[in-house]
Parts: sequence; structure tokens; C-alpha cells
Amino acid sequence: MTALLSVSGLSRRFLGTDVLKDVGLELAEGELVTLVGRSGSGKSALLALLAGFDQPDRGSVRIADLPAGMPPPWSTMAVLPQSFGLLDELTLEENVASPMLFGGGRVTEAMARAGDLLGRLGIGDLTRRYPGEISIGQRQRVALARAVAGRPKVLLADEPTAHLDHATIDLAVRLLLDFVDEGSACLVATHDPTLTARAHRRLQLIDGRISEVQ
Ligand SMILES: Nc1ncnc2c1ncn2[C@@H]1O[C@H](COP(=O)(O)OP(=O)(O)OP(=O)(O)O)[C@@H](O)[C@H]1O
Ligand SMILES: [Mg+2]
Repeated sequence: MTALLSVSGLSRRFLGTDVLKDVGLELAEGELVTLVGRSGSGKSALLALLAGFDQPDRGSVRIADLPAGMPPPWSTMAVLPQSFGLLDELTLEENVASPMLFGGGRVTEAMARAGDLLGRLGIGDLTRRYPGEISIGQRQRVALARAVAGRPKVLLADEPTAHLDHATIDLAVRLLLDFVDEGSACLVATHDPTLTARAHRRLQLIDGRISEVQ
């Protein structure tokens, strides 16, 4: 299997505390992997290092076939932040279509895919609304649709189901499983037992160290 993300010896200290200690992991094509850990254990800090938003004190991150240390383009790695990061002045369908349009995709196809993804997440009737006109759980689904829209090789998602009910979590998990099935990989920081149960592999962060959950 092709490794789409390879991380070794990653360490990060904040304000005198070693938050991440010698973290190593690999994500293979087709894998949905969850990352669990207590609040404050370093999940978001690790995702920020993997995304290139922050720099480690030690260690390396390699993404797909890019040279180590190279910041990944959106078409290779997408990030779904804990705070969503939607653009308030764009409609929901424009938000979702944006990675495809920035990647040079055709407008009609990008809008059609955006509508399809929003429909799969149960909000196909809200495509022309703006982020300020919908609920927080609906905004979270828009952010999820946007994250997969450009078919990135790697998706890093930070608690993507935190504001969703059981039935909607099921839609989100199906979307993520179909997404990795088409040749991508996804690492999800989460507290959600449904998502964790349906992932291909589970990782945990305890005292700054990462390990596989058996
Ligand atoms: N930029 C920063 N400066 C100082 N400390 C930081 C910084 N970023 C993270 N930390 C610290 O690192 C630790 C891990 O934070 P992080 O946000 O990664 O936790 P988390 O596992 O994502 O928690 P949650 O489940 O609540 O989202 C915390 O103790 C936090 O205070
Ligand atoms: Mg977090």
C-alpha cells in the first residue's frame, strides 16, 4: 500500500511542556484513521504540525511524494479545522466549490459536486444560504463537504462530528469512508465513539506519545 503521510520523531514543546514526544505514524491510501486523546492531549497541535501550520522542534513530516518539509498544496492536503474556517461572504455551495475552483475546475462541475456533497450530508436544500444563516452543526457539515470536495490525497479533520446528532454522524462517516475508498487517506481527531468504531485503525495520544489502540 502507498504511504500518503509518513511522520517520524515529531516533538513539540509549548511553554516548557513537552506536548508531543517522538511521534511517528503512517497513513496509507484508503485508510480512515482516528486519533483520540483527552482534551488538551495534543491532537490539534499534532494536526497543525502535519499541515505545516506549525513547525516541530524535532522530526519530519512527509506528504505523498512531496519533498520532506515542503508545504503541501490544497490539492494534496486539506484541513478541516476545529473552528471550520468557512468564508462568510460566500454561499454554502460556493464555499464547498472553492477548492475545486482554485484548482482550476470548471464552475458547472464544481457547483454540481458541491450540491451533491451537501445533499449527501442532508443539507442539499440550503446551498444558496450563507454560513451566518445556518446552525453550527450545518456549518460543520459544509466544512466537511468543502474538505473532501477537491479530492485531496490526505485530509486532516479536527473533530468533524462534534456538533452532529447520531443520524447525521452516520452520513458524515459514510462520506469519509467513500472519500478514502477513492484513493485518499484521512486522519481524524475525535472524541466520537461511532466514528472511532468505524475507522480502519485507531491511534491514541497519552502523555505526548502516540500508540495504536488494539
Ligand atoms: N500555540 C500554543 N502555545 C502554547 N501552548 C499551546 C499552543 N498550542 C497548544 N498548546 C498546548 O498544547 C496542549 C495540547 O493542545 P491541543 O489543542 O492540541 O489539545 P487537543 O487534544 O486538541 O484538545 P481538545 O480535545 O480540547 O481539542 C494544551 O495543553 C495547550 O495548552
Ligand atoms: Mg483540539
